[in-house]
Amino acid sequence: MTEFPKKLMAKLSAREAGNALRKLSVPNGLVDFSSNDYLGFARKRGILEEAIRVMETGNGVFNGATGSRLLTGNKALHVELESFLADYFGNPAALLFNSGYDANIGFFSAVPQRTDVVFYDELCHASIRDGIAMGRAQSFKFRHNKLEHLSKQIDRVQQSKVDSDIYVVTESVFSMDGDSPDLEALVVLCENKGVYLVLDEAHAIGVFGKKGTGLLNELNLEDRVFATVVTFGKAMGCHGAAVLGNEALKRFLVNFARSFIYTTAMPPHSLATIQAAFEFLSSSQTEQQSLVENITFFKDQLRALDLEAHFIPSNSAVHCCVVAGNEKVKACASQLQEKGFDVRPIMSPTVPQGKERLRFCLHGFNTEKEIKEVLLALSKLL
Ligand SMILES: Cc1ncc(COP(=O)(O)O)c(C=O)c1O
Repeated sequence: MTEFPKKLMAKLSAREAGNALRKLSVPNGLVDFSSNDYLGFARKRGILEEAIRVMETGNGVFNGATGSRLLTGNKALHVELESFLADYFGNPAALLFNSGYDANIGFFSAVPQRTDVVFYDELCHASIRDGIAMGRAQSFKFRHNKLEHLSKQIDRVQQSKVDSDIYVVTESVFSMDGDSPDLEALVVLCENKGVYLVLDEAHAIGVFGKKGTGLLNELNLEDRVFATVVTFGKAMGCHGAAVLGNEALKRFLVNFARSFIYTTAMPPHSLATIQAAFEFLSSSQTEQQSLVENITFFKDQLRALDLEAHFIPSNSAVHCCVVAGNEKVKACASQLQEKGFDVRPIMSPTVPQGKERLRFCLHGFNTEKEIKEVLLALSKLL
């Protein structure tokens, strides 16, 4: 058997020594405070049954897409779902990608051109940063949610590079912090400076906005951004993503986004599940309402137990308690797990050193008793 390269083994050993070795684990049956299934849709029987019905009755439904969208993979279900999503989110066009990761690398490696500049929030998701790194534009990060810093940086670039198009990208809910930028101010800033705003709504879909349409829709800003990335693996409980924008952007991505072009299209059963999940979301507000109530209850409990100072302020389904140090945060998570709560540690290098945290993901199906008990257990630990 071929020997595993020594350099790679050394990297693994260094991770292990730093208490930062990533490992795969299977679901543990504990109370779920860690999945992205915010609305419980991944486990909703009705969505599965509707997707099966579409698969069984649909015309020409295949097990797999059979090719890239540009070859044999483009099925009626893709076209119908894109049109449905464009309508649902109030945008002229939608283009499906196989995941949020693919959407971001496809967009950022293709859209900003060699002479352009991209500004990104320093805490943007890896998929955004990887996409930017694959592209040819110059890029700069701005301080987390600090619009004055962004504004000054844009001024500096606009003074020196007159023919650059400028793109700004951020998230409406940060995946590892749960907080949000001041979106209204950001939209106005980008409009005033004439720059293109791209927003990743991965953790806002299903949580904010009428019928779970996200934070941009909640604030009536959906037609004032250049592009929006929406993903279906979180609150929608499925998989996949779409870029929303105008028809020209869709045409451009179909021609230049390599993660769209060079891959087998999403299979029909994924499309049927996404469609069923959105139909369910638009017909029932119960799950979204329960989630919103649980977020309020969680925040009330933080106040009651005097835990607020340990947490990063958030109005979303993601709430993070900073416990510095990989070893310490891992130990805290293990103790909560021993008490029956699935709370995961987020360690460096996923987050900066010293900012390691316990990440509590809230769901519509969590009970007030579970929330009370997990926070009581946490307050004892802290
Ligand atoms: C902000 C953000 N964007 C994109 C992604 C990637 O989405 P997906 O899981 O569909 O690849 C994630 C997932 O963690 C995310 O948090």
